[in-house]
Amino acid sequence: MTTSPTNTRHDPGLEEVVAAQTVLSHIDGAAGALIIRGVPVEALAEQAEFEEVVHLLWQGFFDDLPKTAELKTRLAEARAEAFRSLEPDFARLAAMPPMEAVRAALALGQDGHDLKTAIAALARAGVMTAALKPLSEGRAPTPPTPGLAHAEDMLAIMGEARTPEVVAGLNAYLVTVAEHGLNASTFAARVVASTQAGLLSAVIGGISALKGPLHGGAPGPVLDMLDAIGSIENAETWIRASLERGDRLMGFGHRVYRARDPRADALKLAAARLPRSTGRLALAEAIETTILTRLAAEKPDRKLDTNVEYYTAILLEALGFDRAAFTCVFAAARTAGWIAHAQEQLLTRRIIRPQSIYVGPLDNVAA
Ligand code: SDX
Repeated sequence: MTTSPTNTRHDPGLEEVVAAQTVLSHIDGAAGALIIRGVPVEALAEQAEFEEVVHLLWQGFFDDLPKTAELKTRLAEARAEAFRSLEPDFARLAAMPPMEAVRAALALGQDGHDLKTAIAALARAGVMTAALKPLSEGRAPTPPTPGLAHAEDMLAIMGEARTPEVVAGLNAYLVTVAEHGLNASTFAARVVASTQAGLLSAVIGGISALKGPLHGGAPGPVLDMLDAIGSIENAETWIRASLERGDRLMGFGHRVYRARDPRADALKLAAARLPRSTGRLALAEAIETTILTRLAAEKPDRKLDTNVEYYTAILLEALGFDRAAFTCVFAAARTAGWIAHAQEQLLTRRIIRPQSIYVGPLDNVAA
């Protein structure tokens, strides 16, 4: 006889389940606030270098975590090693869909449980993400440049202009999306980590979940939507038709936020500082207003506001990334958060194994 689970309420989206206690971040969905280790994300986006946020997230999870400056040096060395190691496979990896190429690049690495594995994973994700664009254009990626910070070195590998605004724009993006509580990909990373599979395996689990259009795969389709709408005059008609079809408008809605995702404006600010974004940004803002009005009218009982992905699309396009690779940039940043959560899960010494309620036949004896 099967034993019935103690908690008999089936919650497929786990909305009501608290699956972790975390020191890493807090999301106030009602207020539209996000703090990362006690610091508002807006402040980090404005002031912190990505390596500082990595250090902030990993504090307490690696006994041998060096100071930020040394971590930055080791990450730079790891990018050079990742480039050397991946270069022979660049052509094969470039033939894959972008997120699969980044996942494969990580899978070629050496799994482990230590800081070296963590730094190597972060480096490998950044290098492969940056290499995708030159490879897609038949150009050789530029080898990592010693002494550059992570964001600037990614742009250098891409062969993109590295003006202070562009470097600051990518850095702000990496910082803003590095950590966001128990989202689907981070939960996936924690599940994998809980079996002691290794940090690289946890990151690959996270990448696989992030790839989905309902999660990290939304920014590219945001641009597709803006292209399809074309002008503010078409916006109302296009949006009404899309909602009538039951489509989800990419870049809007969130499982936790019932107010505006604070990251949306942090990224909008970064995009506004880039000359290349001005045309797209003005149209995006006008269309956003129309979308929010329509969502409020058609889904009055559900507060649907702009999420992180809407202005992610405008910013990453202005930084020179191909829309098919936007989710890779997200993964390159979120790898820092996945690793922190993986380490935090390991400290619980508990494998993640929820219950299920059997609803199949009990007497299905083969005839
Ligand atoms: C990320 O969790 C995280 O933290 C994720 C993330 C992170 O940093 O890791 O913040 C990153 O994933 C941001 C979200 C990116 N995805 C998109 O922009 C895709 C579009 N958004 C939706 O698919 C949706 O809003 C979700 C997936 C984000 C949230 O879905 P929920 O909480 O499961 O809500 P739901 O799908 O049950 O929708 C509830 C209602 C529905 O109405 P009914 O069908 O019941 O009448 O709201 C409607 C939905 O139709 N709705 C939308 C909508 N989002 C929800 N309707 C139109 N367009 C949308 N975008």
